Amino acid sequence: METVVVQHGVRFKLNFAEVYWNSRLENEHNRLIKEKFCKGEVVLDMTCGVGPFTIPAAKKGCRVVANDLNPKCAEYTRVNCRLNKLDGGNMPVVHCMDARAFVRHVVWGDGVSGKRKQGEESPTPHAEHSRFDHAVINLPATGLDFVDVFRGIFDRDRWGDRALPQVHCYTFVGKQLDQSEAETAEGVEVAEAEVRARLFRGVVRRVEELLQCEFPEKEQPEIREVRDVAPNKRMVLVSFRVPEAAAFATASS
Ligand SMILES: C[S@@+](CC[C@H](N)C(=O)[O-])C[C@H]1O[C@@H](n2cnc3c(N)ncnc32)[C@H](O)[C@@H]1O
Repeated sequence: METVVVQHGVRFKLNFAEVYWNSRLENEHNRLIKEKFCKGEVVLDMTCGVGPFTIPAAKKGCRVVANDLNPKCAEYTRVNCRLNKLDGGNMPVVHCMDARAFVRHVVWGDGVSGKRKQGEESPTPHAEHSRFDHAVINLPATGLDFVDVFRGIFDRDRWGDRALPQVHCYTFVGKQLDQSEAETAEGVEVAEAEVRARLFRGVVRRVEELLQCEFPEKEQPEIREVRDVAPNKRMVLVSFRVPEAAAFATASS
């Protein structure tokens, strides 16, 4: 089951019995990195698997802090960093913890410890990572629920005037609305484009619920279809900048 796969010139060692791998995501991995990340930016890969976002982003010159709850994934990500000759300032820091605890740990260094083997690099977050530019969540079945971690996690004084981070979260949506929603009051079927727009609005509403705030008119999330997964299921990517009202929220706000 152990093999090495190659995506856009990057090599990934993995064991199919122990970790997640999907070759159908090759273009998606590449597209997100190419379109969204710039050299020098700090990227949190909250559910890194064996590193298909982490390693190409680090090769592009991003500073990546990666994480996966599965210790085998964290281990293979470290192996793959070395396999692809990342070193020095480009070497991602890899953690093994729950994605929410990971974000809090990076931002606050609150002593949440990751599971790691002796001799592996310290999971202590670097101060320069605590102000990050992007967070990627690729866990489409449930990953959207992690979005609540960004509410109230930032401190206005510590963050300063840097732009707030962009979150890129993959999720699944149904391909059709249920019958009652798919018909207008007159019983006319809703066009495909309108169905899609309603499903996408549902994703935005869910993100707003989790952040407990509405997106300002000028900062509406971007939603892109990634692929059809099943006859009634598509994978989409929702990208948004954490709104100020959520980022700096306090318990009383
Ligand atoms: C769909 S895979 C994606 C992996 C990789 N980003 C990719 O594109 O191949 C989702 C990953 O999330 C990890 N995961 C599941 N629950 C998690 C959690 N609570 N916190 C962090 N990682 C988690 C899984 O171990 C798995 O590696």
